[in-house]
Amino acid sequence: MERGIERVLIPESEIQALVARLGAEITSHYAAKDELDLLVVGLLRGSFVFMADLVRKIKLPLVVDFMTVSSYGDSKNSTGNVKVVMDLDESVEGKDILMVEDIIDTGNTFNKVIGLLRHRKPRSLKICTFLNKPSRRVVTVPIDFCGAEIPDEFVCGYGLDYAQKYRNLPYVGIVKPL
Ligand code: IMP
Ligand code: MG
Repeated sequence: MERGIERVLIPESEIQALVARLGAEITSHYAAKDELDLLVVGLLRGSFVFMADLVRKIKLPLVVDFMTVSSYGDSKNSTGNVKVVMDLDESVEGKDILMVEDIIDTGNTFNKVIGLLRHRKPRSLKICTFLNKPSRRVVTVPIDFCGAEIPDEFVCGYGLDYAQKYRNLPYVGIVKPL
């Protein structure tokens, strides 16, 4: 076990299985459409590992783009104060947007980003999150594809950080309380 990690919450093998399941769900959802112009949008930095695995399980033509937003708060809590640090390169208008997030916690960050992208008039907008912490939700986020629901614990690994560390762990672990 990595120093600073109390225990494993989701082992690597389970992650691979849930990503494969999500990829299949997403593929069958979009495969049913007559017209498709799929743009998969990941929020940096947390989604980068999940994105890399997920897009390889989506068996459809797609374009990948990333966006960085900063949400002010302390290291464990976000606020509704979201600033775009790096915007998308691709245009959104008329496209089928699939937003990919590492974890939806209070919902503050994602709620703001969804509003921002809706404003750019996509043809459709769906939301996929690797993890969901429903007990912490402050604002409603309409999640279409969800990897796993987790209890109210601060987790890291598989892209998720604690003070920018642990993103490279291949599993999801619970951070040791200080
Ligand atoms: P929200 O705005 O509260 O939904 O928080 C979303 C962001 O907070 C996520 O994109 C993560 O970057 C971060 N976050 C929330 N919970 C956790 C956690 O348990 N571990 C690591 N990052 C988290
Ligand atoms: Mg983060």
